[in-house]
Amino acid sequence: MSKVKIGPQTMLYPMPAVLIGTMINNRPNFMTAAWCSIASFTPPAVAVAIQKKRYTLEGIQETKVFSVNVPSSDMAKAVDYCGIYSGRNKDKSSIFTLSYGDLKSAPLIDECPVSLECTLIESLDLGSHTLIVGEIAETYLDEECTVNNKPAALKIDPLIFVPGTLEYFKLGNVVGRAYRIGKEE
Ligand SMILES: Cc1cc2nc3c(=O)[nH]c(=O)nc-3n(C[C@H](O)[C@H](O)[C@H](O)COP(=O)(O)O)c2cc1C
Repeated sequence: MSKVKIGPQTMLYPMPAVLIGTMINNRPNFMTAAWCSIASFTPPAVAVAIQKKRYTLEGIQETKVFSVNVPSSDMAKAVDYCGIYSGRNKDKSSIFTLSYGDLKSAPLIDECPVSLECTLIESLDLGSHTLIVGEIAETYLDEECTVNNKPAALKIDPLIFVPGTLEYFKLGNVVGRAYRIGKEE
């Protein structure tokens, strides 16, 4: 395989398209994030890279709590809206139906099949972005998105973001079982 150098790009395939929820000035706000990943198992933690000028960053740093909401693919339009417009100029508080969990002040999106409720444990200045690390205090999963009481990916139907072409996708086909297919002869 011959490869061309395309410079140090921020292209990792694929990326999730999630909604980061915070309270800012007593109003719930939601920001779309693709640069988001699980960061630790013990404690359970999630990391999100947030550009310094984002309104959301102010809310997280002030309240020290936030939510990570996993939308389903049919929510692409609302997700994109939250990634275009800032809560500084647009009220994004009534786009979704909201709930509050154990932490009380991290707004959770009812329409999203999975919501993580997080407390801020680290804030790392990396340049253009601040890497926010949150300990996952609780996970809320839509009962209808389970099979045998376990989360079912195809029912969750997460929205997938593809950098470069800037397109949204949905999950495709299963190609193998992790930690098993590698052992096959
Ligand atoms: C698909 C998509 C992914 C995005 N991912 C990120 C991200 O990971 N980090 C970030 O800082 N901004 C990201 N953005 C941009 C913010 O969502 C956008 O600037 C938003 O308006 C910020 O909202 P806020 O100012 O209310 O916090 C993304 C936008 C889109 C459409």
